[in-house]
Amino acid sequence: MYTAILSGCFALHLLLGHCRGALEIQVPEDPVVAIFGKDITLNCSFTTDANFSLGDLSIIWQLTETRKMVHSYSPLQDLQADQVESFVNRTALFHEELEKGNASLLLRHVKIEDEGSFTCFVRIKEHKKAAIMLQLAASFSKPNLHLEPNKNLKPGDEVAIACHSSGGYPQATVHWHDGKGGNITKNVTTSQVANKEGLFDVRSVIRVILEPNSTYSCLVRNELLNEETQALATITGQHPKFPAVALWLTVGLSVCLLGLLAALGFVCRRKIQQSCKENQTEDGEEEEAEARTVMKPLKNADVKEAEEEVLE
Ligand SMILES: *[C@@H]1O[C@H](CO)[C@@H](O)[C@H](O)[C@H]1NC(C)=O
Ligand SMILES: *[C@@H]1O[C@H](CO)[C@@H](O)[C@H](O)[C@H]1NC(C)=O
Ligand SMILES: *[C@@H]1O[C@H](CO)[C@@H](O)[C@H](O)[C@H]1NC(C)=O
Ligand SMILES: *[C@@H]1O[C@H](CO)[C@@H](O)[C@H](O)[C@H]1NC(C)=O
Ligand SMILES: *[C@@H]1O[C@H](CO)[C@@H](O)[C@H](O)[C@H]1NC(C)=O
Repeated sequence: MYTAILSGCFALHLLLGHCRGALEIQVPEDPVVAIFGKDITLNCSFTTDANFSLGDLSIIWQLTETRKMVHSYSPLQDLQADQVESFVNRTALFHEELEKGNASLLLRHVKIEDEGSFTCFVRIKEHKKAAIMLQLAASFSKPNLHLEPNKNLKPGDEVAIACHSSGGYPQATVHWHDGKGGNITKNVTTSQVANKEGLFDVRSVIRVILEPNSTYSCLVRNELLNEETQALATITGQHPKFPAVALWLTVGLSVCLLGLLAALGFVCRRKIQQSCKENQTEDGEEEEAEARTVMKPLKNADVKEAEEEVLE
């Protein structure tokens, strides 16, 4: 488009000796993607002829839909009047580029509200305008996984695995995969909520029946940035094998409890028998509960280091 019009003008220039009255204005046809919080340049350029003087130039950048003022320049100076509050101190033209026909606008610290169409309006005797689309994007954080319930789990239990990722834009697509890489779409609920800056927090919950040594991974994808980030959890059942740490912990605790029981027994023998019996039952229950602790909290793995992490 850009080259087409320029060369059209160039051809005319060759034919007629000049390109009279041909103020042309160029902006990118595709939307410009800006990263939330960063600066972005909205490109706009115009044709100048041999007689061009900066004193004849006016530029207005405005929001296409509302025509609100984003930035204005009128012979030889920037004008602050009428600028929309949210753009104050955030816009600039490249002054040294103006005489080359460059009316590009620098927009600092882009916000989600900035998303939309901007019009570049140029006047040198005659005037032309063109619109450019600004699209905002932000990366999602690496997800956290959380098991509910997260204690005393055993194969066959129903469990909810929640995947949480935040600060992205636009909305993510979330996929769950099992250990073999297959998509799981059943029993998944995903919700996305915008925070006050307009960035999305995504939360996806999958309900599964636990199988021993099963892996679940949650993949959060930003289509616009073509980025994805994931977390995966491998759930190791106690059954049939006991993780070594848990085993030693249980053995240690059992020894302690036995010692405690022996001491209690010794004291009890000399005390009232009623209360002694109660104590023994409670301790017995505690030991049982400890031995049934099967699962441990989850760890996350980044997509780049997507090796399986076994939870222990
Ligand atoms: C430049 O200005 C001169 C005098 O004003 C005029 O004769 C000439 O046609 C102009 N050239 C162009 C390309 O506009
Ligand atoms: C813009 O910058 C000036 C000078 O640094 C400051 O006084 C003013 O408060 C700023 N305005 C906004 C809206 O940030
Ligand atoms: C206009 O100036 C900006 C800032 O220097 C630059 O990024 C852009 O490429 C220029 N555009 C053209 C068409 O030269
Ligand atoms: C899972 O879903 C995604 C997106 O719908 C798709 O690109 C991918 O090929 C699917 N994978 C499998 C194994 O079905
Ligand atoms: C998942 O959904 C299927 C039906 O789509 C249902 O039979 C199954 O019980 C559900 N699993 C869980 C863990 O809720």
